[in-house]
Amino acid sequence: MKTEKTRVKRSPVVWGLAILLLAATAAVNPDRVEEPKRPGALVQAVERDGLYVELIFERATARVSRRGDGMIRVRMTDRPEFSSFPSFSVIPGEPEIAPLLTEDSEKVILEAGLLRAVVDKQTGTINFLDDRGRPVLVEPPEAGAFFRGEEVGCVKEALPREHYYGFGEKTGPLDKRGESMVMWTSDMPYNRKADPLYQAHPFFMGLRQGRAYGLFFDNTFKSEFDMAKTRPDRFRFSAAGGELDYWVIAGPSPAEVLERYGRLVGTMPLPPLWGLGYHQCRWSYENERQVRNLRDGFLKHEIPVDAIYLDIHYMDGYRVFTFDNKRFPDPAGLIAELKRDGIRTVVIVDPGVKVDPGYQVYDEGVANNYFARHKDGSFFMARVWPGDAYFPDFYRPEVQSWWGDWHQFYFDQGVEGIWNDMNEPAGAGSSFKIASYYIPTGPADWLSMRHGDPPVIPHARLHNLYALFMNQGTWEGFTKHRPDQRPFIITRSGFPGVQRTSLTWTGDNFATWGSMRVSVPMLLNMGLTGLAFVGSDIGGFGLAPTPELYARWIELGVFYPFARTHTANLMPPQEPWSFGKKVTDIARKHINLRYRLLPYTYALFEESTRTNAPVMRALVFEFPDDEAVTNLDDQFMWGKWLMVAPVMRGGRTSREVYFPAGTWFDVYAGTKIAGPVRLKVRAPLDRLPLFARGGAIIPLAPEMRYSTEKPWDHLTLMVFPDKEPSSFTLYEDDKETMAYARGEFSRQKFECLPGPDGVKVMIHAPEGNYPVERKRITLRVYGQDSGAKVEAGPALLEKSYELWTGAWVVELNVEGRESLEVTISNPGK
Ligand code: GLC
Repeated sequence: MKTEKTRVKRSPVVWGLAILLLAATAAVNPDRVEEPKRPGALVQAVERDGLYVELIFERATARVSRRGDGMIRVRMTDRPEFSSFPSFSVIPGEPEIAPLLTEDSEKVILEAGLLRAVVDKQTGTINFLDDRGRPVLVEPPEAGAFFRGEEVGCVKEALPREHYYGFGEKTGPLDKRGESMVMWTSDMPYNRKADPLYQAHPFFMGLRQGRAYGLFFDNTFKSEFDMAKTRPDRFRFSAAGGELDYWVIAGPSPAEVLERYGRLVGTMPLPPLWGLGYHQCRWSYENERQVRNLRDGFLKHEIPVDAIYLDIHYMDGYRVFTFDNKRFPDPAGLIAELKRDGIRTVVIVDPGVKVDPGYQVYDEGVANNYFARHKDGSFFMARVWPGDAYFPDFYRPEVQSWWGDWHQFYFDQGVEGIWNDMNEPAGAGSSFKIASYYIPTGPADWLSMRHGDPPVIPHARLHNLYALFMNQGTWEGFTKHRPDQRPFIITRSGFPGVQRTSLTWTGDNFATWGSMRVSVPMLLNMGLTGLAFVGSDIGGFGLAPTPELYARWIELGVFYPFARTHTANLMPPQEPWSFGKKVTDIARKHINLRYRLLPYTYALFEESTRTNAPVMRALVFEFPDDEAVTNLDDQFMWGKWLMVAPVMRGGRTSREVYFPAGTWFDVYAGTKIAGPVRLKVRAPLDRLPLFARGGAIIPLAPEMRYSTEKPWDHLTLMVFPDKEPSSFTLYEDDKETMAYARGEFSRQKFECLPGPDGVKVMIHAPEGNYPVERKRITLRVYGQDSGAKVEAGPALLEKSYELWTGAWVVELNVEGRESLEVTISNPGK
């Protein structure tokens, strides 16, 4: 390579040729020189059949529609026809209808409840206002929509103190102001910087003075977002092809934006509870013996676990839907054996099917024409783990179904979860790698050969959707072959809508403090993109963590919505007990904490299925008016009530924590903190700084070896009274089947009612169709005086005051009781 380079440098002939070539490319590629085309003035606005308002500009046409209250869709094209390619992200819901159209001599107004679009007739720009007439999104006269060859895009105003969140799986800071990002699903090991990564989410949330809006650019081509980077007063989004098709979503709170976005593209389904337990993985536990040893390790070290993962070595020569019968002679027996200890088995599935005549999956794929092809009809081939592989053309529903049906093979062995990897799609050392990373728009390559209409679809349009379709196939396999169990699918790649079928882990990070730190803003922004069930490899995938790094990472990782340790091949052992006794104790303590918190966490997940609220939440989601949290990326909320401040630098025994306005409690010491304040808190190696927000009622389960070992018949309620009344509603069902969808669930409300001389805790009876067995409740009420009077009628079994936390601990017998009132009063006060 080196000599070649030298030769190029020295040869004027080669330079001359290169210049000629460049000139020729420019001549045949008009995109390079073309000025962007702007829509121009508005000529006419017409409502069409109640479906949309058509805006006819001098050089473009737009269709504006609304959905529900506060969602406006703008589609715009400079072509004679609108695209017929449907959205695979947007789900049916409230009908898409025409907004109410009014106009005067200067503008056209399109009403959608909380949001309205105002079109300037002269400049053709479209501004969005809220229901009180305040600007939400503005297009300055020279900005707005543009078209340049195949490229489509739009430029809008960025206000000086506007912040941007979302964009799916991105490294870098929490607030994306000043960043530019590319959406093109790519296999890319990363540390603190790399873009694009595995998932592509052309969605963001803007926040201006505490008021939020959302913008979803529903375009599957490679797209780019420049968020006030090139020009501090503009943001810009564009795609290499397709249509300018975007939704503006009203807030005004971040929660309302996400809730609406969830109605548009769907929310996560309720996972089985075991999915929220602790999971263990490595590339790979290679044979039965290693898997049994792993199980024994958890039992011996008394560390809870719910799932063990089989990475690629379980397969016969990396052929999907096979087991290597030397390494795993009796998978069904092994999986059943693990299950007796409460451990579920999850297997990896890669989309690449080994090119191997005689291998059934390959033969069927070829015989039925299920594999993707190039435009010339030859198969799209890439090298992945098994060598040369073909790729199912998942865009076609019949291919999804075929793939889904193959999962019967795993289900028959007792497998309960599927881990979809390499689905960007990715391949190594071949043209496919180039396809995955670099294929530009245009007919350079093709991924789908669909018979009928349209016959072929360019790779550039389908690339970002590949995993969405693969996961849909897997989902179909679950719902068809395990219809009464909740699917458990983990995916690496995705596009908006991926959360309807799968949770996401953030791929190949490294065992470095930097990778650990980057996981927090990354997961927080995924939460702000409507991806609630997410996690990063605990301890890091590439390289080996030091004991200290692993200890700190497991402390953080038990507060990832998806908590799994994973490491690469050739790396040393990375089990919770691999780093000596001290770290084992730390891992046990924190994994136990995750298990004890499951009743609280399960309620957060259930809430998210309805509201799309993140489980792991950026503080800005809860405190959008607080400028101090707009880029706070090293602490976060776990639901509304807990705040986690992990230590993410080596050699530290304390850290600074920001407490927004309000009352806070140190969960360990029970001490009160009055926000807003920035405090240095103690954090020796075995302590994760954890705080409760005033008003918190946190239900805890008993300690368990796995999530479904015991019913929640003895709950502990940690109550942190504030000045205002507060409540928490526990959600309960059978924890793994679909019965909840048929109404078999219950809710139980707990209230904390502070009064002038004490506090009252109300324990309401569970309501609903799922039979809740509650026998005992241990109340821990913090911030109380030792001399207080505690009353709970005949339910009271025992009460004691805990000096070191300032909590009253009250044991209650709640068996067969309807509801219960506990008072803690200081009459003298
Ligand atoms: C990819 C995945 C990683 C997995 C490996 C082997 O790198 O991201 O998690 O262990 O492939 O299957």
